[in-house]
Amino acid sequence: MDLRECKNEFIRIFGKEDFRMFFAPGRINLIGEHTDYNGGNVFPAAITFGTYGLAGKNDLNKFRVYSMNFSSLGVIEFGLEELDYNKQHDWANYVKGMIRYLKEAGYEINSGVDIVFYGNIPNGAGLSSSASIELATGVILEGIFSLDIDRIDLVKTGKRVENEFIGVNSGIMDQFAIGMGKKECGILLDCETLKYSYAPIKLENYDIVIMNTNKRRELADSKYNERRGECEEALRRLQKVVDINSLGQLSEEEFEKNRYIIDDEILTKRAKHAVYENQRTLKALDELNKGNILAFGELMNRSHISLRDDYEVTGKELDALVEAAWEQEGVVGARMTGAGFGGCSIAMVEKKNTEDFIKNVGNKYKNIIGYEADFYIASIGDGAGEIEE
Ligand code: GLA
Repeated sequence: MDLRECKNEFIRIFGKEDFRMFFAPGRINLIGEHTDYNGGNVFPAAITFGTYGLAGKNDLNKFRVYSMNFSSLGVIEFGLEELDYNKQHDWANYVKGMIRYLKEAGYEINSGVDIVFYGNIPNGAGLSSSASIELATGVILEGIFSLDIDRIDLVKTGKRVENEFIGVNSGIMDQFAIGMGKKECGILLDCETLKYSYAPIKLENYDIVIMNTNKRRELADSKYNERRGECEEALRRLQKVVDINSLGQLSEEEFEKNRYIIDDEILTKRAKHAVYENQRTLKALDELNKGNILAFGELMNRSHISLRDDYEVTGKELDALVEAAWEQEGVVGARMTGAGFGGCSIAMVEKKNTEDFIKNVGNKYKNIIGYEADFYIASIGDGAGEIEE
């Protein structure tokens, strides 16, 4: 699929050539998993897979939106004031939520818009296709109505759509990475303060290989909320003895000293992951800045082990991929990325080994799981915005 086909679709569906083009990426998370809603650090990056949006105003006083990925749902239409969640509008609710909250914030969205979306993020792969469409909608509205929206506010609006409009209790990492991404950079983000910095990722001799389990993250939302609840409970108990607002504020030593107060094996494991993973993220960035790729990779491995054994969000598919990856030549590190329970893993692989890596891990996965995994080489790209071609 190339942009030409998207343009042709716009012309075919809306019968005009008057549109502008926008793009919002997907994301991978290099390290710092399930730390965002615990007030910790994350280290994600925007990728060059994402959501394209071709958009132009109409004079019909309604939005007409079409996704080439859900063509059987046809063009979905709703009026400028019809901005309530509507189950039948399926994927278009992400679009609607963005329009609604931006209007509520006082931005002047005063005419209808026609939009064709096309996404090349594998659906359900845990690379944030939903945050991608939220931010794609955000930059479309910003561009088409010449709005001056602070980028962090747009990111927060995307999160609000996810939390309040769609009802998924996610943290801010995905929207932040997608809204703020920068070519060839990871973003270290402190999710408590929203302070961030870019760290160049120049991996001359390495590829970041994305490995898709092709298992949809079905359980993800309910288990995700369960983990959040467990961390909140562990925090409540810890707050009896330590003065903290989030697990992200604890050092490993402080955690070890006070963990007895949690008094529950499962809750202690969950909190331990949140605390150690947060510290690991800072250490990983430090190693990366010093050019110690091997040490960075080792921290990725430890992140996966913690997500597998303490946080228990990996599952057999992600473990099969990551454990097969660890055995391959030229691999410096591998871990699951995103919420878990399916979706994708990532591995840092020496370029000269990448081809064999994909073949070997692919075979092993198929033998263990019974169906194929998919592999893509990640390129780290810019955040959401208008594009020329
Ligand atoms: C999902 C959520 C993020 C984050 C990750 C886990 O991607 O949307 O906010 O919590 O899971 O790190």
